[in-house]
Formats: sequence, structure tokens, C-alpha cells
Amino acid sequence: MSEKRHIQILDPRLANQISAGEVVERPASVVKELVENAIDAGSRRIEVELENGGARTIRVRDDGSGIGEADLPLALSRHATSKIVSLEELEGVASLGFRGEALASISSVARLELVSNTDEDPRSGWRVVAEGRRMEPRVTPAPHPRGTSVTVRDLFFNTPARRKFLRTEKTEFGHVEEAFRRQALSRFDIGWVLRHNHRTLHQLPPGDDPVAQERRLQSLLGKAFLENALHLDVEAGGLRLSGWVGLPTHSRAQADQQYFFVNGRVVRDRLVAHAIRQAYRDVLFHGRHPVFVLYLEVDPRVVDVNVHPTKHEVRFRDGRMVHDFLFSSLHRALGEARAGERGEHEDVPETPEVAESVREAAPTWQQQPMALPGQGERAGDGDRDRVTPDRVRAFMEGYRALHPEHEESLLTPQPAALAPGGSAAGVALEERRVSPATRAPRPAMPEKDATRAPPLGYAVAQLHGVYILSQTERGLVVVDMHAAHERIVYERMKTQVHGGALQAQPLLVPVSLAASSAEVATAEAEHDAFSRLGVELDVAGPETLLVRQVPVLLADADVEPLIRDMLADLERYGRSDRLEARINELLSTMACHGSVRANRQLGLEEMNALLRDMERTERSGQCNHGRPTWTEMSMKELDRLFMRGQ
Ligand SMILES: Nc1ncnc2c1ncn2[C@@H]1O[C@H](COP(=O)(O)OP(=O)(O)O)[C@@H](O)[C@H]1O
Ligand SMILES: [Mg+2]
Repeated sequence: MSEKRHIQILDPRLANQISAGEVVERPASVVKELVENAIDAGSRRIEVELENGGARTIRVRDDGSGIGEADLPLALSRHATSKIVSLEELEGVASLGFRGEALASISSVARLELVSNTDEDPRSGWRVVAEGRRMEPRVTPAPHPRGTSVTVRDLFFNTPARRKFLRTEKTEFGHVEEAFRRQALSRFDIGWVLRHNHRTLHQLPPGDDPVAQERRLQSLLGKAFLENALHLDVEAGGLRLSGWVGLPTHSRAQADQQYFFVNGRVVRDRLVAHAIRQAYRDVLFHGRHPVFVLYLEVDPRVVDVNVHPTKHEVRFRDGRMVHDFLFSSLHRALGEARAGERGEHEDVPETPEVAESVREAAPTWQQQPMALPGQGERAGDGDRDRVTPDRVRAFMEGYRALHPEHEESLLTPQPAALAPGGSAAGVALEERRVSPATRAPRPAMPEKDATRAPPLGYAVAQLHGVYILSQTERGLVVVDMHAAHERIVYERMKTQVHGGALQAQPLLVPVSLAASSAEVATAEAEHDAFSRLGVELDVAGPETLLVRQVPVLLADADVEPLIRDMLADLERYGRSDRLEARINELLSTMACHGSVRANRQLGLEEMNALLRDMERTERSGQCNHGRPTWTEMSMKELDRLFMRGQ
């Protein structure tokens, strides 16, 4: 065999190349590291420029603090950082970097040049490169505006094995763009530019106000994201969750468009993913993925970011609390989205200078192609969509004229005088002047604001025994009556079942489970949690559990796998909604059988009652299987179909 070698210290370049294996996988990882440095330097504007998918050139330019001449020789060495000096500081670290190895790693596997200036005078500045096996820094004067530019050429030129793993230019650039997207979503107060092969793909002005934020979301994630997202901002127990979550009906086939930031750092975390999945359970169509851009802010001392060199993973000191907080905040936000509502977004015009972006057109499944008011509108067409009290009253009159008898019984508890109505169906659609004298007394609407028609409008007809056609303020709505009713019945049953004490029933023959000691420990610790769910679970021996009682609804279910899954959930996440989920599954089946079937003729009162019920019911935008229950078409869209006004 080979002759025994002496122990030697690795030369710096080789040592850096080894650690580069962990952080520098492809151009996108270089971009991530360089941009994180630019953010840590307090930059207000960051430009990322690539050639050839980043394989040839990557340049990141910032206007941050710069690096002083005295510090420059150290910037490219390993374990050299300005961000922490002690372990205590690491525990509360707020900067994105702290390991002091990115620049050293990158410059060991590519030709890296850093030019920096801490001075306002653009004639000063210094350039540094690391040379040879010892990676000796060479510093020379080089003028540069205040800030830093790092240029990385010929990535992996000296590590052919790594270079072989680079994919096509398009694929590599796709990864870079994704990294850029994450960074740009992490800091709205910074202005961003992304260029590829001398083309500007993103130009994002800084801005922290809601309009600027949504404009950025729109240019990074597309219009559909914003039109189908709910905004939320929840704070409790030192945690704050804000951002946007997609409506369940706007799901995607891939789990892209999922961004989760913890203190400004993008993370992919199992606990977080689980909490989000649970929140969407019951409203998302099977196999589809929700979209979200969410920001969690926590005290840096209760989260450990030094779990992995790429820092994509985090560890929370109190994982249960975080899980609970995420789940309940999202669950509530999604539950509050009723039929007829949508995210309230300000008018978000596209930034004009943004070049067309390379956006994947992954198929989205959208409930309503509802245009934002004012968007893409022809000049002079703005009036029609504006909801003025006059318009609504005119509409109401039109409705009354059409259906005097239903108007009475549905909307006005006491008989009211009918206004001398308009002529026919077209009334509501015209801009009509209604003089005060002819105004009808306000009907008692099931709405806070009596000048607004209910969001789902008023039923006009039933189509083929399956759909309800309804006229709304904006146009028309079509409702799948079975799907809608199913959700209403289901939500009602859930409230009854989970609101009151769950009815439980002792098993005739207790089920004995062989269990691991960890499972036994969890069963003991979580005894109360099980009881609350109607499950009596006793420890019968060091490796045996006994199920004595389960909820009546699950009396015929196979309890063993259910209990095991619950134990695993409780151990890992501190809560289990499996039992609730199983009960809900049963309720869902029951609801399906209890709902209006197709081909039943409904009267207008019944249809309107269903529409009002939908408006009141949580999660009524989707049936129990996650399919949409209704869809809307605005007048503008109808006009477009008939090429009116073009
Ligand atoms: N764009 C930049 N602006 C100012 N200082 C920078 C920049 N990039 C790197 N530095 C300095 O170089 C040091 C080393 O960077 P790096 O190798 O990425 O390690 P880390 O970010 O973990 O400290 C940083 O601590 C910082 O002081
Ligand atoms: Mg760094």
C-alpha cells in the first residue's frame, strides 16, 4: 500500500477550496453570499450583473459602508469577519454573515477581485485579490465610488469536477434569479437591479410603503399572485407574522412561490412547512401547493441560525410556540376569507422601466380572473367600476324592478314602498341619474354598509340544475350550488362538533399498542391533550399503551395508526390535528351527503339564502375538497368578450 505520510497543515487555498464545497455550489450561491455581504454593509442599492448564467462573470455592486484599506488584506482570508467577536455575539447575531468564509471560499475556486471605498471621494479606493497557494492578498489603489464591487470570473476554473456540475446557462440563471427574488423580497427598503448578458431584467426601486411593496411583489411574482393573496399582520407573545398568503383557490402544481423569512433571512424549515400545511389542510385541493410570502420576526436570541453553512435552516428555542403561532395565525386568516371577498389591494401599476421578466408560466388555478380596479383600463372607462352610492341604489332599483317579490321577502323585514323602478334588466348596468326624490328607502341589507350590494349579488336564475347565476355590483357570479352548500353544512357541523364537548365512547375492548419508550413518554406527557380530544390513552407498561376511549364519530375507525400518527405529531410539533382531521373527514363525507344535490330546483329565495350563507361562512370560497365554489366575471371582462368599446 502507499507509504505513510506525515501530518501537514493544508495550504490556505486547498483549505478554502474544501470549505467552498459547502457554500459555493453554483453561481446562485455566489450571488447569495455577495448580496448578503452588501446587505450587511448597510447598502441602499444593490446591483447584480451576470454573463453567461454567472459561469463567466458575476458582479455585485453596492453603495454600502465599504472596507477600509487596513481591513482589506483580511477580507479574503478565512475566519476573518467584522460581524462577531465572541460566542455571545453569535447567539444574538443579526447580520446575515458571521462565519467569515464566503469571500475566502469563492476566491479559492474563481478569479475574485474586490474593489472598495469607505470614502465619499470617488477618486479614492482600493482593489484586492488573493494570489497563489497561500492566497496572499495584493492591495493596489483603484478609484471606486463609496461602496464595494466584487467581481467573480470563471467560476470553478481550477476545480474541473465542480465545473462539470454546472448546468446550462438558462438553468443556472434561473437559480440566480430565484436567489435574487428571495433577497429582493427580504428587503423592500433597498433598491435592486438584476442584469443578465447586458439586459436589465429587474429594476426595483426602494420603498417600504404598501403600494411600493405590492408593486415589487407583482414584478417579482406576477400579477396573479397579488390578485389572489390576502395580506396579514399578526403579533403575539413576542412573535410577529406578516406578509401575504395565497387564497386556497390560487394554488400551484409546484411548491414554488413559497417564501418564508425569519428575521429577514430566507429559510426552508420543516417545522414552518408543517405549520403552513396544516393551516391549508381542509381548504386546498389535493396535491396542490399554496403560495405565500411571509415574514416572521422573533428575538434573535431565541433562534439559532448557525445550524448549517448555507444558513437555510434555523432552530427555534421554542418550536412548539412558533408552530402554534404560525398555524393559528394562518388558519384564522384563511378562515376569515369569505366568499365574495378578496384581498384589498391598492391600485398597483407596473413599474414602467421594468423589462419583461423571465417568469415561468407554471399553471395556476385561479378562482376569479378579477382585475384590480383601474388596472389596464382604457382612459375614460374608470367610472363604471367605481362604486358610488348612486350606482348601488340604481342597481338595487333595477333588481327590485326585476324581482319585486323577492326583494321584499329577502331584504326588507317590513314592507317598504317600491320605488318607481327602471324599465328592465339593463337598468343596473347603465350609469343612471337618480334624483333624491325617487330614491327608495334603504333596504335592510345583511351588510354593514347599506349602500353596498352584497358581494355575491342577487340570484337571477338557476342553470341546468347545477349553477346559480347571480348579478353583482361588478358583473356576474356563477356559483356551484352543491359545492357551496357542502362547505356551509360542513363548517356548521364542525362548529357544533368541535365547539361543544366532543362526545366520546369507551371501547368495548380496549386496544393495546406496542410502543417505543419515546411514544410512552409522549403519551404520558400529553395525557391531557388526548383527553381533550376524547381519547383515553393509558400507559399499561414500559412498552405498552392502552386506548380505552375514542370519540363516537371514530368508533369504527382503525385507531392504532391514528394514535401513532398523533403521538408522532405531538412529539415533533407539540400539537396534533390528526384526530380533528379525521373527524373533519367524516363530517365532510356526511356534509356531502347532506347537501343539495344537482338537479334540485331552487327558488330565488333559496338561492339568495344560499348566497348570503356563503358570505357568512368561513372558507366558503372552496368546497370541502378544495374546488372553487364560485367564479366571477366583471362587466369589463364581458365587454372584452364582445369587443365593446374597442
Ligand atoms: N460588500 C461589502 N461591503 C463591506 N464589507 C464587506 C463586503 N463584503 C465583505 N465585507 C467584509 O469582509 C468580511 C468577510 O466577508 P465574508 O467572507 O462574506 O464573511 P462574513 O460575511 O461571514 O463576515 C465581512 O465580515 C465584511 O467585514
Ligand atoms: Mg458574508
